[in-house]
Parts: sequence; C-alpha cells; structure tokens
Amino acid sequence: MYPATAADWRLLAQRRLPRFLFDYVEGGAGDEVTLAANVADFADIRLRQRVLVDVSDVDTRSQLAGQACAMPVALAPVGLAGLMARRGEVQAARAALAAGVPFTLSTVGICPLVEVVAATGQAPWFQLYMLRDRGAVRALLDAAWAGGCRTLVFTVDLPLPGMRWRDVRNGMAASGARAALLRARQVLASPGWVREVVIGGRPLSFGNLHQQVPDGRDLNAFKAWIDAQFDPGVTWRDIDWLRGQWPGKLLLKGILEVDDARAAVASGADGIVVSNHGGRQLDTAPASIAALPAIARAVGSQTELLMDGGVRSGVDVFKALALGARGVLVGRPWIWALAAQGQAGVTQLLAHWQRELLLTMTLAGVTRIADINPSHLITPQERP
Ligand SMILES: Cc1cc2nc3c(=O)[nH]c(=O)nc-3n(C[C@H](O)[C@H](O)[C@H](O)COP(=O)(O)O)c2cc1C
Repeated sequence: MYPATAADWRLLAQRRLPRFLFDYVEGGAGDEVTLAANVADFADIRLRQRVLVDVSDVDTRSQLAGQACAMPVALAPVGLAGLMARRGEVQAARAALAAGVPFTLSTVGICPLVEVVAATGQAPWFQLYMLRDRGAVRALLDAAWAGGCRTLVFTVDLPLPGMRWRDVRNGMAASGARAALLRARQVLASPGWVREVVIGGRPLSFGNLHQQVPDGRDLNAFKAWIDAQFDPGVTWRDIDWLRGQWPGKLLLKGILEVDDARAAVASGADGIVVSNHGGRQLDTAPASIAALPAIARAVGSQTELLMDGGVRSGVDVFKALALGARGVLVGRPWIWALAAQGQAGVTQLLAHWQRELLLTMTLAGVTRIADINPSHLITPQERP
C-alpha cells in the first residue's frame, strides 16, 4: 500500500510496532469517549463550498509563535517517540524542518535536545511538565534556552497521568516478571522493530532526563520517576514563577475551559493550546474542537490560540482555523507515519496535509490563512 491518509499510516504502524507500544500511542483514558469524540466532532463539521471565486493564488503560509511556517501545523510533543523508530525524534524533526513546520520535543523524549539541534541545525519547541524538583525544572529551562529553544510548550493537564486501560492490559504499566514476559512476547512478534529500534536505535535513554532516569528501556523506572516527580500541587502561582524564568514564548497546553483560558492570558502566557491531551486524561471531557469556539470568543483576540486532538487531515486543519484557532498541533498521525516509514513517512504525511489544506481553501474560496473564519462553515441551524 502507498499510504495516503492518517488511517493508512495507523495501519502500517500497527503492523510494525509491538502491541504494547502501538496501544500506548493509540489509547486514551477510561472508555476512550473523549478520544473518539475528538475525531468524530471534526467529521461532524460541514464546510461551505464556494464557486467562481478567483483562487489562482492560494497560500497556506502562516506564523506560529512568531515563527514562519509553511502551514499552521506543528508536531505535538509525544513522549517515547524515539521508541517508535530509530532515533525517532531526530527523524521527525528533520521531516518537520523540511516541511517548514515546528517540531516539539517532549520532556520525556528519547533523543536529547542537543542531538535534535545537531541533526537539524534548528532548535525545536520544547515541552515541559512541572516537576517537584524545581531545580531540575530550572536546569531543563536553562538547557532548552542554551540549546536555542525560544518556544516553551508547558503542559498543564497532567497533574497525574490518566488511567489508560490498554497500558494495564498489555503489561505496559505493570512491573514484575509476568508483565515483562507479556511484553517480551509482543516484542518477539515484531522483529523489524527490534532490528530498527532496539538494536539500531541506541541509546534508548530519556535524552533530556538522563540524569534522573538513566535506562529508558526500564519502563518501571520511568513510571516510578513519573509517579515521584510529576507535581499535582502546581497552581497558577507556579505559572507566574515559570513566566519569570522563561523569557521566550510560553504556550500553556491542555486548556478546555473559558475561565482557565482567561487565567492563562492573565498569567502572561503568549498562547494557549486547547487540548485534552489526545483524550488521554479526563475521559468524557469535551472534544477539543468542541471546546474551541467558546475559548476563541473569550480570548481569541488577546492570545495565540492553538488546538490539538483529533486533527487527522488538512481538511481538519481548515476546520480548526475556521473555529478560531491560529494553528493546530498534530499528535498520533506523525507517530504512526514515523513508526511506519521514519522521516520519509512524516514527510509524506505533511506533504499530503499541506496539499489537502490548499485544496480545501481553494474549494472554500479563500486564498489566505488569515481569512479563514466561521463563515466557511455550515451552521447547525442550516443543516437539513
Ligand atoms: C503516545 C502519546 C504521548 C504523548 N506524550 C506527550 C508528552 O510527552 N507531552 C505532552 O504535552 N503531550 C503529550 N501527548 C499529547 C499530545 O501532545 C497531543 O496533545 C495529542 O496527541 C493530540 O491529539 P491527537 O493524537 O489526536 O493528535 C502525547 C500523546 C500521545 C498519543
């Protein structure tokens, strides 16, 4: 198969990855109601087709966090991405650079920031969780700044990791011999992945946290570190502290409520990512695209509004912009493409999305990203 859509990449990733890793990416919290709604709510939006408008010059270029982009899409931070393909974050960052879109490196990525910067010649956006050890946070901020990062994506929706039952079933979240055996069986069924990642992708440590969690293959040590270090006591006061520490752009990721969006603006953040963490945290929370319009009405003119969750095509990018986002982050689709075909896969995915966004703009009769607005959508009242 020549993969065309996100669903195609997903299928190829499923064939390649050990079951526990595929499900780690795929899964959401609880009964995965929010996860499903993220995608379904996009599909439910109807676009207005316009004809005989001059669309001979359509341009998908935009700016995100002050950075020029070929289209208003950034790769979302995804922990353990380097377990999906050999030096996974580097391959994806290279693809993002070539496509002209930002790449976000997760706190819990496999490749360290210095490796990504050396491979691409460009600093990515850096994502951070608040750790109990504020000295460690300070050190990570200093390293990010020294590495050239100027955009910090600070994730606020993970005071504790959500309950992702697939990880329990597959032994990903468990310790002990039985879980290890279960995972080993899944690994043995994926020889291509073992060759590429386990043997070819070393060292598999948590690049940015190598001092805290030396062995990235030890998922139990990783989990123990998360349990001990993620700080559920974080409040807006800590965001004030963070704002004082970080002179670059600060985006707060994981906001779904208007009041929280207002507080984010008041905290001095430069932007907000409307997000439910890809349906991985509070199950039955609203789909991100459903939460977006009210937040756009409340703070859209005062802050840079991004969203993520369920974006699966260039058409979805258009819909998010029409509902008030300046841009979107994409999570699982880039991981699927990476797992299936590495850098070339991510490159192909982004090329297809840019083409699709351009075509959607063309058929909707709009030639500039900044001109996409709610008038391009059929309202619920108009629908038969
Ligand atoms: C496997 C996986 C790992 C993730 N790891 C992180 C992370 O380390 N930091 C973070 O802020 N968000 C993380 N996220 C959330 C993504 O950044 C993003 O919000 C989400 O994937 C968007 O939804 P989508 O997958 O439907 O595009 C992760 C998501 C997935 C699927």
